[in-house]
This record gives sequence, structure tokens and C-alpha cells, in this order.
Amino acid sequence: MSEPTIVDTKPVVMELEPGDYWWCSCGNSGNQPFCDGAHKGTEFTPVKFTIEEKKTVALCLCKKTDGQPFCDGTHSSL
Ligand code: FES
Repeated sequence: MSEPTIVDTKPVVMELEPGDYWWCSCGNSGNQPFCDGAHKGTEFTPVKFTIEEKKTVALCLCKKTDGQPFCDGTHSSL
């Protein structure tokens, strides 16, 4: 299994409207934290998640979280 690219060692906190989103798991997207298709040709695929009602979330940018797409604090051990 390849290692994802670490974008940052802290999450990005953002307010999201209801809808479907695709979180970048490879770390190569130019549209972090979301997928822009840059994973093509790698073994990574984006992680789809759904926001039911407007809320603030912390999305993982270190790409090492065990709770994709959300930050679980793993970045603090990198
Ligand atoms: S940014 Fe990846 S676990 Fe926090």
C-alpha cells in the first residue's frame, strides 16, 4: 500500500452545506480537502461523505486518519 501525500499536519475546519462530498485520500488534489481527480493512476480513491445539515467539520489533511474523512487526532503523532 502506497503512502498518501501529507498535505498538512493539521485538519482544515470548514462549514459545509448539506450535500455529497468527495474527500481526497491520496493527498495529490489541488482542491484540498476535496478530490480533483489527481488520484488517477494510483491505488487511492476518494471517500464520499454526505452532510445532512449545515455544520462545521474538521477534515483530515494529513491523510492518516482512521476516521476518514474527519480528523481523529492522528496528525499529532506525525
Ligand atoms: S489532520 Fe489527519 S488526523 Fe488530524
